[in-house]
Formats: sequence, C-alpha cells, structure tokens
Amino acid sequence: CGIFAYIGDKEAAALLITALKRLEYRGYDSAGIGVHGVPIKVRKKVGKVANLEDDVSKAIDTVKGTMGIAHTRWATHGKPSDINAHPHATTQSSIAVVHNGVIENHRALKEQLSGKGYQFISQTDTELLAHLVEDLKGQMGNASWLEVVATALCLCEGAYGVAFIFQDDPDLIIGARKGSPLILGVGHGEHMLASDASAIVEHTKDVVYLREGEIVEVRRSGFKVHDLEKVVRKLGKNTISPRPDDVENPIVRLELSLEQIEKGGYKHFMLKEIMDQPNAMRNCLRGRIYQPAEAPDRWEIKLGGLEKAKEGALNPQSPLERMANACRFIFAACGTSWHSGLIGKYAFEKLAGVRAEVEYASEFRYRKPLICDSDCLIAISQSGETADTLEAIKMAKEHKALTIGVVNVVGSSIARETDCGMYLHAGPEIGVASTKAFTCQVIALLLMALRLGKQRGALSEEMLNMYCAALNAVPDSIEKWMSSLTEQTQVISKNLRLATNALFSGMGVHFPVALEGALKLKEISYIHAEGFPASEIRHGGITLIRNFVPVICIAMRSDPAYEQIKQMVRDFRHKGAALLVLTDDGNTDFAGVAHFTLCCPATKLEMQPLISCIPLQLLSYHIADMRGCSIDQPRNLAKSVTVE
Ligand code: G6P
Repeated sequence: CGIFAYIGDKEAAALLITALKRLEYRGYDSAGIGVHGVPIKVRKKVGKVANLEDDVSKAIDTVKGTMGIAHTRWATHGKPSDINAHPHATTQSSIAVVHNGVIENHRALKEQLSGKGYQFISQTDTELLAHLVEDLKGQMGNASWLEVVATALCLCEGAYGVAFIFQDDPDLIIGARKGSPLILGVGHGEHMLASDASAIVEHTKDVVYLREGEIVEVRRSGFKVHDLEKVVRKLGKNTISPRPDDVENPIVRLELSLEQIEKGGYKHFMLKEIMDQPNAMRNCLRGRIYQPAEAPDRWEIKLGGLEKAKEGALNPQSPLERMANACRFIFAACGTSWHSGLIGKYAFEKLAGVRAEVEYASEFRYRKPLICDSDCLIAISQSGETADTLEAIKMAKEHKALTIGVVNVVGSSIARETDCGMYLHAGPEIGVASTKAFTCQVIALLLMALRLGKQRGALSEEMLNMYCAALNAVPDSIEKWMSSLTEQTQVISKNLRLATNALFSGMGVHFPVALEGALKLKEISYIHAEGFPASEIRHGGITLIRNFVPVICIAMRSDPAYEQIKQMVRDFRHKGAALLVLTDDGNTDFAGVAHFTLCCPATKLEMQPLISCIPLQLLSYHIADMRGCSIDQPRNLAKSVTVE
C-alpha cells in the first residue's frame, strides 16, 4: 500500500491524486483521499487511481482545502471495496486516517469500541484507529492530538505507517511508523509524508526518514519528531512541556530525480527498466570494481558497505572478515529476489568456496532453522520492505549471525535492520515485475563472491582478474545487442502469444534463469509457466509437452551439461514442442531443430545469467503487451509485500 499526506498552501486534492499515481505500484485495489474541511471530506473508490480521479473531478468543489491525506490500498483485511478503501474517518468525519500495515489485535480493540457504541462500517482493521483516537480524546481531557494518537498507537499491536488529520486543527498532520516506512518531505511552508520517496521528489528533495517507533507533528511552518513511547510514558507523569522526548532526525537529500521515475518515452515502466539494465548495472558496479592506476593490469573490488560494522553494532569486527571466516551463507528472499539468491549460491560455492543455502524467507521464518553465530544471512530485496525477509533477518540476529542486506531502496527497513550491506543503485523500479533490480542483485552477489574468493584464498589472482574483467564488460556487451533483441523477441512473441502453458528449461546456473523466465511470463501475461532443470523434466514435466506447447530452452555451450541439454532439446522437438532455444552467439547446433533461436553474447558461465535473462524478460513483456495485459500493475500482485 502507499500513503501520502500534504500540508501547505496549494489545493491538496490534485496533489494527492498525483502522488497516488506514483505510489500506485505498491498496491492498487482501491484508493482514496481525505481533505481538511469542516467536516473532513473523504472520497474513495475501488480499482485504480484513475477511478478515484474521475470521482474527485466530478466533486471538485467539495474537496477544496490545503491539507489532506491519501492512500492506495492492497487489501489485507476486508475485500477491495469503496467502503474498505482508506482514509477511514470517525462517524462525524472529525478525524481521518490512512494506514499501511496490520493491527493484529484489531478484534479485541473493535469489541471494546463497539461496546461503547462506536459503529464500524468497514471490514478493515484501520477504521478502529479513527474511533480509538476519538474515544481517547474524550477520555484524555486537554491532551494534545500528539499525545492522544501516541496513546492509541501504544494500544495497537502489529505494524503501521499512519497519517492522521483532525477537523479541529487545520494546521496539523500526525504521522507515525512501526514496521512500515514513512518519510517526511521538508519544503518551504509545506510538508509531505509518504511511504515512498517517489511521491515526494517532485515537491522537495529534502527528506527526513522516520525511524521505528517515531511519531511526528507536521505543520506548515515546521515539524517535530518524537519517540512515541516516551510521549506516552511522560503522560503518566503528567509533565507535558518542555518536551525532552523530541528527537533529532537529520534532513537528508534525496538522490532521485522525477525524470528517473517517469517512463522516459517507453510504453511501460517495465520496458524502460529492462532497457535501462546496462546503465543500472554500470551504476551497481561503479566504484566497486576497478583497475588501480598504479597497477592497470590488476583488478580490485572494494565493497564499502561491508568494510565497517555499523555504529553501535554488538560485534565491532569488520563484516568482510566475519564473512571470510563464515561457515555458511544463507540467502533469504522472496519472488524474483529468491532467484538471484540461487545464482548467488552458485557463485559463492564456485568462486568463494563457501557453503551457501537459499531460503524462501516465508518458509525460513516459520521453521526452527539451525543458525549459528558463524553464519551470515544475506537478505536480498528490491524494496527492502518485504515482511517475511525482515523477519528472517530478525531470526538470524537472535542467533547472532551477521546480517547483510542486498537492497535497492535506500533507507528501507531491510537496509536499516541489517548489520551491513550493499545497495544496488539500480534506480527506482516501478514495474511490479522485477527486472533491473534482479540483474543488479546478481551483480552485487557476484561482486561479493569474488571479493570473498580473494579474501578466502579460493581464487588465484589470475582467476580473479579474469572474472573481474568479464563482469565489468557485461554492461557494454549487452547494450548494442539489446536494441536488436526487441525486434527478434517481438516476432517470436507473436507466435507464442496464444499459448496457455509454457515450459522453461535450463541447467546449473541457468536453472534459476529458467525459473525467473517462467515467473516473468506468469506475472505479466497470465500464461501458466514452469521452470525446470532440463534433465529433471524427464521426471514429470515431460507429460506436459505436446504439439505447440512452447518450450524455452537455455543451452549455452559453456554449460557443463551442454551435451545432455542438446539431447533434451532434440527430444522436446520430437514430442511436438514449439521450441525456442536461447544460446550463445555463433552456435549453429540447433539449426533445423529449434523453431526459433535467440543468440546472446557469451561470457564466463557464472556471469552468463546476467545476459541470458534479458531475452526472457523481453519475451514476457511483448507477449503480455500483445495480450493487452496490465503490464506494470498485474492483477493481484503488489510491488512490495509488507504484510505476512
Ligand atoms: C513481490 C513482487 C516481486 C518481488 C517480490 C520480492 O512479489 O511482485 O517482483 O520479487 O515481491 O520483493 P523484494 O522487494 O523483497 O525483492
């Protein structure tokens, strides 16, 4: 879900709607705005933000005001509907709230409030926040809204990012966060709150990242951040001012331009992000891999985020040293990020000579996994907000393992919770289906594997130089090739677009690429697709192959099992598959066998997934486009899953 709030001198409604469009990718089954007035005016609509925009434009005179809150919802409690959309308000619309997260004890709180006569009209957990605040205000006499909201939130168990407005104060928004991100934008005579920097950047680049357990009072002229629990504790002592519970949060500069988050001339964000990969990869490599001026035939890898333990860390040892001595690495991730973990495992074992395991964070957290203090957990996440991955980090920390974040979104929860890490620097990824974040995750993991390979003595200097040169050359080698790929993948897509099932096969490091190819196709074109290790197909999946079923085979001559793969490809053809083979440049082995062949620039096997995944991304994109699918916002999917 996404939150935005505005206070300033401009008409809020239009700004709120624009912000919601930027946030839409976070979840979009419904959306709503609440604009200050007497009473507060709430408009909300199921479906996309465009539906809400339409509704608001018809009633524009009723939503005049210069302060408001807004929300895009992805349902957790209650089905998507106008009523369940946020904001939620009190019966007289004197208080309105937007909320990301889940109030776990909502049933008990709802019962208490219903007992007092409060009427609930929605099925959400959020509505109770409005009633609870109203109820407490009645009980707390002269307490300020800050104190009342803080008290209400202390009664709530679970996660929240919230923003409240109040009919009786035209110059106040209260925001708070626990387990869900919230950022404050600091402008001149205006402020914004948002769950995501992309909604703020067009207003200001000066932001304050709220920390866990903080609450903020936002007015036109300024803001004050407090520690939520301290506000409540002080209330007990009845000493309200001065306020030593104020906390100082630095204002930081956002390095995100609006142009970066717009489509840049492409039809969809996803296509823009696919085509942006050479750049994104370069940004991910920049400053981390280089040939020192004094020894230009040698390569060095420098990973600043792994060199020093974070301030206040329990173990002051350098993370890199701990990683070099680790017995085992655990990659924890979800979705596409889990696939990059599988490629990471391959690289860590082969290049760094260390044991590595890959876990679905959602499975890991519900087991009792054996973790020890010599383990390192690498949490891979584009958004840095995936709830299951965050929970895996907490578990690893409890066992004193080192936690490392491989994250795209700067300042996100995973980036903060981990002991150290690497940002991807891929730039904002708006399309729900991950593309450039995936390739940058693979780059980050390869860099780590190579750096560790050196530290652990698993790679000779010669090997290290060879791998570094190969990795560094990837962005240039794909740039030209990608422009010719568009036409080729369009032709193939035309032939495959009517399929109902598709199989992807790959072996070794290309098995995760097959999984990712299948996931992309499923996500955006709604064609059922599965990825298999080529040989494993014989143990079941082969029953699905018959006339015209597309089978997409990755068959690089550098694959150790290339001969077996070749054999399998012939067999698939024999069984009637519509065969697409993805292979390396200049390979003619599949002439007369495959219906379609796509050739990729060849590189070292460990780096090849960075290249071989790209035609599969494009294939899914064009098929989905030809099927008229909602590519950037596929049905039922959210960009970041911040609920369990
Ligand atoms: C959702 C998205 C996927 C993403 C996954 C993990 O399912 O739709 O594209 O791979 O979450 O998200 P993360 O932000 O942790 O990488």
